[in-house]
Amino acid sequence: MSTQNHNALFDALWNDYLAITPDAKAIHEEFKALGDDTIINDHIALRTFNEGAMNLENIGKHLEQFGYEAAGEYHFEEKKLYAKHFQHKTDEDAPKIFVSELLLEEFSAELQMFCRGLIAEANWNIRQNGLSLPSRPWGKVTREAYERLLEESEYAAWLAAFGLRANHFTVSVNKLKGMKNIEAVNEFLKVKGFELNTSGGEIKGNEEVCLKQSSTMANIVDWEFNGGKHPIRTCFYEFAERFPMENGELYQGFVAASADKIFESTNAA
Ligand code: NI
Repeated sequence: MSTQNHNALFDALWNDYLAITPDAKAIHEEFKALGDDTIINDHIALRTFNEGAMNLENIGKHLEQFGYEAAGEYHFEEKKLYAKHFQHKTDEDAPKIFVSELLLEEFSAELQMFCRGLIAEANWNIRQNGLSLPSRPWGKVTREAYERLLEESEYAAWLAAFGLRANHFTVSVNKLKGMKNIEAVNEFLKVKGFELNTSGGEIKGNEEVCLKQSSTMANIVDWEFNGGKHPIRTCFYEFAERFPMENGELYQGFVAASADKIFESTNAA
């Protein structure tokens, strides 16, 4: 099978993401104004369920068609998630793709039943049309259903509302010309009035684990539910600064303890 162009995939994901993440568009413009014409992304993240045609394994197979391969795995016990990250085999500047899946069997019977309804719709849809990114392979959920999910899992509620789209894009701070480190990025964003995720501190990680990350809180946007619009948190913008390992190469993996806090960037206001 020939390799599909991953740049077209990222263009589609980026445009979909910008449409519901006004802060990302604004911050992107601010960085450009500082002299960064091309902003390199460190990674993007997708959320999914661990069952059906859109589970992590099947998304992984989909990503292989774009030249990606699995490169690391992560467990999030409290949030009941399993994740892998994927790297492009030949393009070093291609963003890594972090894909997590919700471990459905660890939740209440009610949550499982509701989510399996969405998965059944997704299975039908993907059988007809194939897996595609970005997409929400089920119809609009009601606000009531969204709020019931929210009580048990913020992640499940977000996924039900938004489906398979970039939950965040992440700027590679190492490759920014206008900013020397992640501390400078955070100060700049605060001066400009953007809200940062402070769960676990503004900066998650450190030089010892070879990765520092920070993020905005997700934008609040009027979202179309089955039954009408209601404002909820959509997506956020993340920043990552990587440090060399003992062998001198920049660390390319993720730090579960940091990612655990980054997930909270979509928590309700
Ligand atoms: Ni991330």
